[in-house]
Amino acid sequence: MNEYHVPVLLSECLEALDLQDGKIYVDATFGGGGHSAKILESGKDLKLFAFDQDPDSIEQSKVLTEKYPERFVMIQDNFANLRTGLALERVKKVDGILFDLGVSSHQINEAARGFSFSGNGKLNMRMDKESELTAADVVNTYSFEKLTKIFREYGEEKEAARIARNIILERDKKEIKTTLQLSQIIEDCLISHKSIKAKARIFQALRIYINKEMDVLQTALNDSVKILNPGGRVAVISYHSLEDRIVKNLFKYEEKSCICPPEFPLCVCEKISTLEILSRKPIVPTEQEKENNPRARSAKLRIAQKREVS
Ligand SMILES: C[S@@+](CC[C@H](N)C(=O)[O-])C[C@H]1O[C@@H](n2cnc3c(N)ncnc32)[C@H](O)[C@@H]1O
Repeated sequence: MNEYHVPVLLSECLEALDLQDGKIYVDATFGGGGHSAKILESGKDLKLFAFDQDPDSIEQSKVLTEKYPERFVMIQDNFANLRTGLALERVKKVDGILFDLGVSSHQINEAARGFSFSGNGKLNMRMDKESELTAADVVNTYSFEKLTKIFREYGEEKEAARIARNIILERDKKEIKTTLQLSQIIEDCLISHKSIKAKARIFQALRIYINKEMDVLQTALNDSVKILNPGGRVAVISYHSLEDRIVKNLFKYEEKSCICPPEFPLCVCEKISTLEILSRKPIVPTEQEKENNPRARSAKLRIAQKREVS
């Protein structure tokens, strides 16, 4: 197995999904297929539908499509379209859904995709190579206010305004076309020990914004709750606090059986608890896994189960 395929929190995910023959599972983020391959190996009669919007992943999936023609279906789509994608395959309900969010090692390593601030490539950052807006469009045309907001909101970057100002100054001299140009602009306006983390945060912010990652995750999680069979599980690995917060809050909301203000003497909201949270605290990789696979370092896994009656 090469690095492309090293699946994060593998045994924890397999256990989380409670895999059983005769049931239907979804890998919402196929990537290099590491998790998918192990899910398929775990049973003789379980079916797996995988999603990824990246054409490179579709190419990668061909090995599994050939090996398991009856049990594996790859769908090239954004996981925001989970329900429609499955409906087109005549699937309405499933028994487990896995999300392993973010970018794959493959996407980061391929400098031309523009996700990495250390390699040089075009400032692109689209996960779906066919979508329109690129990171270069954003840094070369957005106002100071808009850039600052994106860097603060999606990068949680304290120096957002300083960096946005420097981008505006530099783009007036020369269009910002590459990842190294943007890296240099960030580096030039910060003291050196701050700049590496700032670069990571600015690149993350642009990627989240370009791919609308937060909205898409919210939609996909809401739909997951709807399409799970009673007893079915949803497992989500996130890699930064913004994603993790969305997962944690959604699970908490779905678990609640009442959302009335505390001062109400009686419940009038008619809210139904749809999920039971199975991981009160997020599951994190062992020290050994973090050492073996640096990509696992910030991973957090949360698991919830669809209630029997809802
Ligand atoms: C961390 S990788 C998954 C790695 C995979 N679990 C494995 O074992 O190889 C995340 C993958 O999710 C895909 N992805 C991210 N957001 C997506 C979205 N909204 N819709 C579909 N695929 C998405 C990316 O293209 C990437 O291939």
